[in-house]
Amino acid sequence: MILAVETSCDDTCAAVLDGDELRSSVVSSQDEFHARYGGVVPEVASRRHLELINPVIADAMEQAGAVAEDLNRVAVTTHPGLIGALMIGVATAKTLAYSWGVDLVGVSHIDGHIAANYLPPDPVEPPFVCLIASGGHTSIVHVRERGSYDLVGQTLDDAAGEALDKGARLLGLDYPGGAELDRLAASGDSGRFDFPIGLDREGNHDFSFSGLKTSLYYFLRDGGAEVLKRSRADIAASYQGAVVTALVSKTVAAARSLSCGSICLSGGVSANSELRRRLSEACREEGMTLRIPPAELCTDNAAMIASAARYVAPLPRGEWLALAARASGAS
Ligand code: KG4
Ligand code: ZN
Repeated sequence: MILAVETSCDDTCAAVLDGDELRSSVVSSQDEFHARYGGVVPEVASRRHLELINPVIADAMEQAGAVAEDLNRVAVTTHPGLIGALMIGVATAKTLAYSWGVDLVGVSHIDGHIAANYLPPDPVEPPFVCLIASGGHTSIVHVRERGSYDLVGQTLDDAAGEALDKGARLLGLDYPGGAELDRLAASGDSGRFDFPIGLDREGNHDFSFSGLKTSLYYFLRDGGAEVLKRSRADIAASYQGAVVTALVSKTVAAARSLSCGSICLSGGVSANSELRRRLSEACREEGMTLRIPPAELCTDNAAMIASAARYVAPLPRGEWLALAARASGAS
């Protein structure tokens, strides 16, 4: 049985995984604390993690009906993420593993997003190509076996979720804007305005979203308040459409070039209705299968960290204290 802790950004998370059975997964969102600033404030996130981490772990253990003696491992996200936020989780996990006398496992947040696909209710077996699209990451990976992957492509600047959140903000929507943009775009015409698609060249599996964001900024500046008032939903749909086109076309092209017929999705952006619709349509046309974990396993959570921890060797006892949080690095 594994207790996992995840504090890489602004959600305080703990989960208990018993073999293949997810016993509990607790996520305490800090959205309300960051909303007034229009984005995550790292120092606010760290301080809030410190207040929440013990109750969230206690809650996860209680919901799982677990006690310390049931555990074989404590797992924790070590990277990438906000360094102060990660440090709270790492220090907590070290302390618990030491005092309970169980193994400690450090896990990459990216490995976690991929391993969300191995959890119930519908665990996926490799090989597959996985698109990880969230507020902090956008990458395409090729998974041939559980516990490892090859990086196929990644964003060279902003993450897809960041581009959606910043676009939403320019359109006057509240933080975090991705989901609100999704709702507004549903009533708009995505073909009305042309926004650029970064690195749109055959054989290129990387993403770039910063030019798109800048083009929306100039579009709104030049059009003035009038264009926003008249065409808000169409602008939202066209802007979101450009992000989704890049995600769909590059993921499908990557799978095709790897002769892989199975695509998985993870990360908060996989909640996007347009992405789900267009990716399933593209997969149907290509004769590929698409699998998407339940939304609560796609956004940040500790169940995915526990899932990934099953495929990582625990640290030898003497090396525990050296386990450090890192802001960057993928695996
Ligand atoms: O995976 P996640 O919870 O946290 C990170 O690791 O970043 O992803 C959060 C991101 C945010 O950018 C949020 O706006 C986006 O996922 N998101 C959405 C939707 N729901 C959440 N983006 C587009 N459409 C949605 N429905
Ligand atoms: Zn994430």
